[in-house]
Amino acid sequence: MRNKTTYACQACGHQSARWLGRCPGCGEWNTLLEERAEKPAKSVRGISGSGPVPVTDVIITQEERYSTGLTELDRVLGGGLVPGSLVLVGGDPGIGKSTLLLQAAAALAARIGKVLYVSGEESAQQIKMRAERIGALQGELLLMAETDMSLVEKVIKESKPRAVILDSIQTVYYPEVSSAPGSVSQVRECTGILMRIAKGTGIPVFVVGHVTKEGTLAGPRVLEHMVDTVLYFEGERHQAHRILRTVKNRFGSTNELGIFEMRGQGLTEVINPSELFMNQKPEAVAGSAIIPSLEGSRPLLVEIQALVCPTGFGTPRRMTSGIDYNRVALIMAVLERRVGLRLSTHDAYVSAVGGVKLDEPAADLAVALAIASSFKEKPLQNNLVLVGEVGLTGEIRPVSGMDKRLHEAAKLGFKHCIGPAREQQMQKMGIIEYIGVQSIQEAVEAAIGR
Ligand code: TYD
Ligand code: MG
Repeated sequence: MRNKTTYACQACGHQSARWLGRCPGCGEWNTLLEERAEKPAKSVRGISGSGPVPVTDVIITQEERYSTGLTELDRVLGGGLVPGSLVLVGGDPGIGKSTLLLQAAAALAARIGKVLYVSGEESAQQIKMRAERIGALQGELLLMAETDMSLVEKVIKESKPRAVILDSIQTVYYPEVSSAPGSVSQVRECTGILMRIAKGTGIPVFVVGHVTKEGTLAGPRVLEHMVDTVLYFEGERHQAHRILRTVKNRFGSTNELGIFEMRGQGLTEVINPSELFMNQKPEAVAGSAIIPSLEGSRPLLVEIQALVCPTGFGTPRRMTSGIDYNRVALIMAVLERRVGLRLSTHDAYVSAVGGVKLDEPAADLAVALAIASSFKEKPLQNNLVLVGEVGLTGEIRPVSGMDKRLHEAAKLGFKHCIGPAREQQMQKMGIIEYIGVQSIQEAVEAAIGR
């Protein structure tokens, strides 16, 4: 058979017989790259091999989970590492993925035995140097610097480790696939092999993937579909703390958070993260509001800061960090219309302190009050937290997990909470003064006064 060329979209994996400027699969421009067509990949075979079985007869091996020695990582995985699972750890280069997994590998090795750490990015010496720094020198931790996936597969089959770490999927290649490492077909093939290993032998596998926010690097989305769990490791490079977030998890809830701090000796777990995301300020200042947010099962107090000032020239500027831009625009429009603040002639900068990303609507009220407070140049009442979703008519809608949020706030010494009127029963808990409000006007009056 003649070797045919095909074109594969590097974003979604769509294949086409000729080059197209725009991918018909995902609509992205200029993502199609030439790839040599291969024989149908071997790894496309099923994961079990046997025929259909009645659901009642499926034998479940005792669902045991391994602890990775890092409670933050365990929680994000849904309570530990499930045998036979394939976990993708994505994140920007330099954020600390290799460090995190090396630490986990050493701790796992100490608990369950042989762990194989395969790196296509660093030599064994480099990894050892890092291991010395972070105290991960463990006899059961095996290092292998290799990029040939067929060799990696062979070694795994022969040495039968209890867990495997592959750093990173973009650097390995399968010799039978002709395209370059990191291309969609290589990523798909190599992930397929790892999948087969994990499902076939019960060895849990961690894979590192460099994934930029734009998803421009090859194959990330293909990868996400294939694996059981997707974790993102994120944070501001110039700040010490890092957030590990679940994006997909077949063995637990998504939107869990794990918080770490990058130190000289590697990553340490942050026991009381709420303190990290609040600016330790001596007295109340205008433009700051605090939300007990709930990402996954864990409450986290986050400070929102806003700066509103008259526009000097031209169109007003709006800038956000850690909060959705459009959400802020909407809240500002509601404030303008329902509370009468003349925000359309003002620039506004809104950010969540500490590089945390808030995407739950419960943060709306705190965002609104931070903006209103800065606009009026009046600080909010002391020891106050704010929770609630803001609707287009200015109504404050209830949000989930109110009791958890209030307990966390009370634990950190907050005395008052302004939230949706529908949750007024929270007052009965007696841990915090609960002020229920129906609308954004009421909230502004309660928090700042007129
Ligand atoms: P690394 O794990 O190599 O990131 P990734 O694998 O995601 O590319 O970590 C990179 C950064 O972490 C590097 O800039 C140095 C820093 N670092 C520390 O601050 N302390 C440490 O103990 C280690 C190992 C790394
Ligand atoms: Mg690395």
